[in-house]
Amino acid sequence: MSENDKYTVETITEIHTWTPSLFTFRTTRHRGYRFIPGQFARLGVKSGDEVVWRPYSICSADYDEFLEFYSIVVPGGQFTSKLSQLQVGDEILVERRNYGFLTTDRFECGRDLWMLATGTGLAPFISILYDPRTWEQYENLILVHSVRHKEELAYQEAIRAFRENELFQEHAHKLRYVQAVTREDAPPALRDRVTNLIATRELERHLGLDIDVDRSRVMICGNPEMVEETRELLHRRGLTVSRRGQPGHIAVENYW
Ligand SMILES: Cc1cc2nc3c(=O)[nH]c(=O)nc-3n(C[C@H](O)[C@H](O)[C@H](O)COP(=O)(O)OP(=O)(O)OC[C@H]3O[C@@H](n4cnc5c(N)ncnc54)[C@H](O)[C@@H]3O)c2cc1C
Ligand SMILES: NC(=O)c1ccc[n+]([C@@H]2O[C@H](COP(=O)([O-])OP(=O)(O)OC[C@H]3O[C@@H](n4cnc5c(N)ncnc54)[C@H](OP(=O)(O)O)[C@@H]3O)[C@@H](O)[C@H]2O)c1
Repeated sequence: MSENDKYTVETITEIHTWTPSLFTFRTTRHRGYRFIPGQFARLGVKSGDEVVWRPYSICSADYDEFLEFYSIVVPGGQFTSKLSQLQVGDEILVERRNYGFLTTDRFECGRDLWMLATGTGLAPFISILYDPRTWEQYENLILVHSVRHKEELAYQEAIRAFRENELFQEHAHKLRYVQAVTREDAPPALRDRVTNLIATRELERHLGLDIDVDRSRVMICGNPEMVEETRELLHRRGLTVSRRGQPGHIAVENYW
């Protein structure tokens, strides 16, 4: 496949398997590819004579020389059944354009950044946390990752390692990482859905930090029902979704 105006041809350089249905992979990055942490790329894989395209949040830092992605394998899924067969050295297409509005520049002011993820919805927050501006801008960075089973708590070592990263060290105390495992007991992970944790205020009690209009900016990513229900809960507390030219308190990304 040759490059054209729409995409570049990149190479898979690393693959890490977390569970039979979750993996991370890295690709080469075209020197002209730019993105803002939190944005997504459109990836293409060959399927017969066609190319199947899907949006994928970028996990890596905007200053990394590679691109990193975190993927589910959907049984029978048109894209992921092909993607999950690829090996190091295989080609993958990356659209030249970057996309998406799950970026901190959607917000004005705010003292606490809440990042609420289900499943692979964690991906954009990893990139956002690699950005030193995130650590400088906010007083508290709250990352909540909700999964069904504890082995799906991907990236936990990388998240804990932010505390030792020399780029963030003076701000390391700002990160509050909360795991929620919904289908088994896995202490110290909380055992409830993000929506319930917010509705009952258990999350805020757990952290000793309130969600409120003045200080909280909330990003929500992953399962569309979780995104919608959480947005509605926050809306009732006066938080609104950021729109173009009209900064609010919430930014969302639905994965399907
Ligand atoms: C803006 C955006 C960013 C995305 N970023 C990522 C990402 O970083 N990582 C990732 O794995 N996927 C991501 N997705 C989903 C991804 O684009 C595909 O849907 C996914 O790769 C499955 O493709 P498929 O063709 O195999 O199945 P599809 O036909 O696309 O999906 C079939 C069904 O699988 C389920 N499903 C799809 N994606 C997921 C998922 N990620 N987690 C749980 N269930 C899912 C849904 O029920 C969906 O209806 C993103 C989607 C959007 C819109
Ligand atoms: N993860 C697996 O072991 C597994 C196995 C086989 C197939 N799959 C398929 O893979 C797909 C995605 O699985 P996934 O586990 O990554 O994603 P998921 O179903 O979105 O679950 C991820 C997390 O989001 C929570 N969640 C789901 N709906 C919610 C809502 N409306 N409000 C608040 N929280 C909500 C889940 O809690 P709950 O646990 O309470 O739902 C779980 O903690 C599904 O289509 C599934 O059928 C997954």
